[in-house]
Amino acid sequence: MNVKNRYLSFMLTLLTFLMIVSSCRTDENTQTQIDEFHLPIKIAKHQQYKNAAVSSAHHLASEVGVQVLKDGGNAIDAAIAVQFALAVTYPIAGNIGGGGFMVIRTEEGLYDALDFRETAPANANKDMYLDADKNVIPNLSLLGHLACGVPGVVDGMEKAFDKYSKLKNWSRLVEPSIELAQRGFYVTNKQASSLNKRRKEFKKVNDKPIAFVKGKAWKQGDILTQPDLAKTLEAIAKNGRAGFYEGEVANLLVEEMNQNGGIINLEDLKKYTSKWRAPVVSDYRGYTIISMPPPSSGGIALIQLLNSIEPYNIESMGFHSTEAIHLMVEAERRVYADRSKHLGDMDFYDVPIATLIDDDYNQMRMSNFDPSKASLSSEIEPSDIKESEETTHFSIVDQWGNAVSLTTTINTGYGSKVVVDGAGFLLNNEMDDFSAKPGVPNFFGLVGNEANAIAPGKRMLSSMSPTIVEKDGELKIVVGTPGGSTIITSVFQTIVNIIDFGMNANAATQSCRFHHQWLPDKIQIEERCLDENIIDTLEKMGHATVSRKSIGKVETIVVNDDGILDAAADRRNDDSVSGY
Ligand code: DON
Repeated sequence: MNVKNRYLSFMLTLLTFLMIVSSCRTDENTQTQIDEFHLPIKIAKHQQYKNAAVSSAHHLASEVGVQVLKDGGNAIDAAIAVQFALAVTYPIAGNIGGGGFMVIRTEEGLYDALDFRETAPANANKDMYLDADKNVIPNLSLLGHLACGVPGVVDGMEKAFDKYSKLKNWSRLVEPSIELAQRGFYVTNKQASSLNKRRKEFKKVNDKPIAFVKGKAWKQGDILTQPDLAKTLEAIAKNGRAGFYEGEVANLLVEEMNQNGGIINLEDLKKYTSKWRAPVVSDYRGYTIISMPPPSSGGIALIQLLNSIEPYNIESMGFHSTEAIHLMVEAERRVYADRSKHLGDMDFYDVPIATLIDDDYNQMRMSNFDPSKASLSSEIEPSDIKESEETTHFSIVDQWGNAVSLTTTINTGYGSKVVVDGAGFLLNNEMDDFSAKPGVPNFFGLVGNEANAIAPGKRMLSSMSPTIVEKDGELKIVVGTPGGSTIITSVFQTIVNIIDFGMNANAATQSCRFHHQWLPDKIQIEERCLDENIIDTLEKMGHATVSRKSIGKVETIVVNDDGILDAAADRRNDDSVSGY
């Protein structure tokens, strides 16, 4: 071996040694052990399954759900397991410290809806986010301990289990998440950058170390372990709702509040109850739409949108044609105006549901629709009815035909950023979904009024729209998405894509989206979505347009005519389908 070769061989040996040493490096969140949890994620965006399907924001959560189904659990069992798994693998939105809504259609064709939305603590009040001059204090309802509503997820999961579980083995549904939290999982590129982006805020509101902040920046392939969360999940596996709302975990949560100016107390936790509600149901071109009633505005607004466009032949206008976009936007403008006035928690405020979802009412609202010209939001008032960026969605169909559409949230990414010390879970910042002051926009630019004012024990208004669609009495579509105010219009477009434009689950899910919410008076359009000439024409008609990054992360399952489940997960993030 000459000198040059000897030098090369030495360098190679040194390099290999350095690689081994660096791959053995560990810190609290980084391990080198490679097993199935620690492999780069295997994302499947579109698959067809004969028996059962799950579409969720994380492939490990989808697989946890499918394993429950294979073990004889039904869609509700799988949903419970997926909810807990997302609380570990998708901390930006999956949660036990937040709330959500579950819409169910059973194999017998019965509908149900579970409301496990957070509530305002007993010590909350209408003006709690206003300064002495009655101006909204920026960020108070978004960051830190005062932003948190009383969590509803664990109570909701237990209620769903008690009424619908087929497996009848609660701890079996929580155990996969305990393992995921203990052993950790592979952090994707998107997760690494979203965690790094919030580092400052995490540090601002948490004075003790938390799993989401480590010595160095996160990078793809790091392993995130959450030992405190694993302990909390163990208490939930053992004691159900009592493991969370009472005892050690509840004490830790209240201690976290007391030390940091928060107001949730033990009584708030003890009293929290999720509620079974009657879903809102309506027809659209021969399909039955089944969706979430208040405290979500989602189901009502979705039905209003579909009713508003039903008299028009949108199919002949063409997908993403100026005519179709104009029609849908004008419907959105009117519906979101109504939302600002009439929608709130119906346990506290009389929501005129029957009128709002009535065909004639919505057609009356569209009577001043001009096919050639935009109306101005300043001229569209909410009607006068006289009558007493982060959430996550998953869709599941099981081998018997039971379906679950579930959207869950801690509101914006990582919620209030508060991690309960010793209990390892993130708390929501859902209080921002209330109207802190009439007419003042919240994080999503939504304005509200009396109907959505803060009151102790009241649920803040939501846009989450978990939806199920039937055709001729048979299950057809299970759909939903995150996206704040854009949730309703994303679900609207996905349903129209399937029913009117004949798309399959994947095309309907992946196609780009636009959104209008009355105020601000602008069509928000995903980047590189529409042809320039379509945008020009819309502007000439009087619409203001604005380009924005992605809208929604839709998870869709369509039951094809031959019974095959056509499952799609949104291309906009790491979402993934699984099934068998
Ligand atoms: O309930 C609602 O409408 C909001 N808290 C949802 C937030 C959301 O979707 C954020 N995701 N991107």
